[in-house]
Amino acid sequence: NTGKLWGGRFEGGPSPELEALSRSTHFDWRLTPYDLAGSRAHANVLHAAGLLTDDDHAELHRGLDTLGERYAAGTLLPDPSDEDVHGALERLLLEEVGADTGGRLRAGRSRNDQVATLFKAFLRDHARVVAAQVLDLVEVLATQARGHLDVIMPGRTHLQHAQPVLLAHHLLAHAWPLLRDVERLRDWDARVAADSPYGSGALAGQSLGLDPTAVARELGFTGSSANSIDGTAARDFVAEFAFVTAMIGVDVSRLAEEVILWSTREFDFVKLHDSWSTGSSIMPQKKNPDIAELARGKAGRLVGNLTGLLATLKALPLAYNRDLQEDKEPVFDSVDTLEVLLPAFSGMVATLTFNTARMADLAPQGFSLATDVAEWLVREGTPFRVAHEVAGACVRRCEELGIELADLTDDQFAEISPQLTPAVRDVLTAEGSVASRNGRGGTAPQRVREQLDELGGVVAAH
Ligand code: ARG
Repeated sequence: NTGKLWGGRFEGGPSPELEALSRSTHFDWRLTPYDLAGSRAHANVLHAAGLLTDDDHAELHRGLDTLGERYAAGTLLPDPSDEDVHGALERLLLEEVGADTGGRLRAGRSRNDQVATLFKAFLRDHARVVAAQVLDLVEVLATQARGHLDVIMPGRTHLQHAQPVLLAHHLLAHAWPLLRDVERLRDWDARVAADSPYGSGALAGQSLGLDPTAVARELGFTGSSANSIDGTAARDFVAEFAFVTAMIGVDVSRLAEEVILWSTREFDFVKLHDSWSTGSSIMPQKKNPDIAELARGKAGRLVGNLTGLLATLKALPLAYNRDLQEDKEPVFDSVDTLEVLLPAFSGMVATLTFNTARMADLAPQGFSLATDVAEWLVREGTPFRVAHEVAGACVRRCEELGIELADLTDDQFAEISPQLTPAVRDVLTAEGSVASRNGRGGTAPQRVREQLDELGGVVAAH
């Protein structure tokens, strides 16, 4: 025997080239605590089924606990001859408790149901970490919004001035999608929790009278797989997790891009805190939004992890195929990426200072009040189609004269249309415009205050 998990039907050991290709301990070693937890639960059902004596059961637990302590101390390491974390831990357990007792643990399980379960348990833990970090960012956005409830900025569509909006309203527009991402992680978790694959064996289930529900419960799941083939072969839980992490990256990247634009001299809307920005090795004056740029860049990497995974899964026949070992590195990377990105990004957003005077100054410019003129006319009884034309004519006249809408004289208004009485001036301020958009979800200060409360309620429920 070569010390491998198989040997009976093999005459020689694996070639070094095969070992080099096959080895996964350099990335799956982090599943060790989950594998040990699975083994404890498995020992318990073997014992309950009468397949382990009390002594063997206790000895296995002692061995598994010792391995757990060594792992925590950083002294438990795989050997280059180990193929994966599961094989390595079995070898180490045999060293710890002897081949006779250690060799009983593998009964009724396969690395196929083992790895599918452990991977779920690992991702569930990290889904909670990532969700908490995303919630931190949501709270940072809400705090910035609450601190700027009176600041008006140019709202844009097509990156062109569109209509004035509250800065708070704009910031909260980044918070809501992130909150939905947190909800996605929760939905995902509930689905995964109901489906512990332990007990599926290699693909067909186990014949030893073991209780998969007991294992599931011990590992924090609410139920076990209804179909052992599905339990071992499905990886939609990985793809869905990769999607949510990619979506978080994409949502963050949209704010990142705005921070990058806003910190340019041309926009001059925000100043980055020194501790959350970088300088240049050659240009002494530089202050760069590296955190935002890295966020933008890493979104691409998160999307790539998702698409790579889907490509691996496409057309893969049932049940387990070794291709499935490729499922781990991309999501490990997604988890590592977000867990280091999100705290940095939240810190950057929390310490942004807004150039509120400049935002307010630009808010009514670029004819962003033209819609207010049209809607004022509608309130005065003009059909919107006509009102749109009239307001458009105002803009054209202003462009000819090189002025803004509020600079038109009463006579010039009357010349464009007799319906444009001086009372139209009431809506020709950014404040008036913002205050008038007071339907639910609108940018009126009162509505945005309510929105903050609503958001706070959803955050508190998590
Ligand atoms: N390390 C493998 C994986 O991550 C599990 C081992 C299953 N291998 C096997 N030959 N059935 O997918």
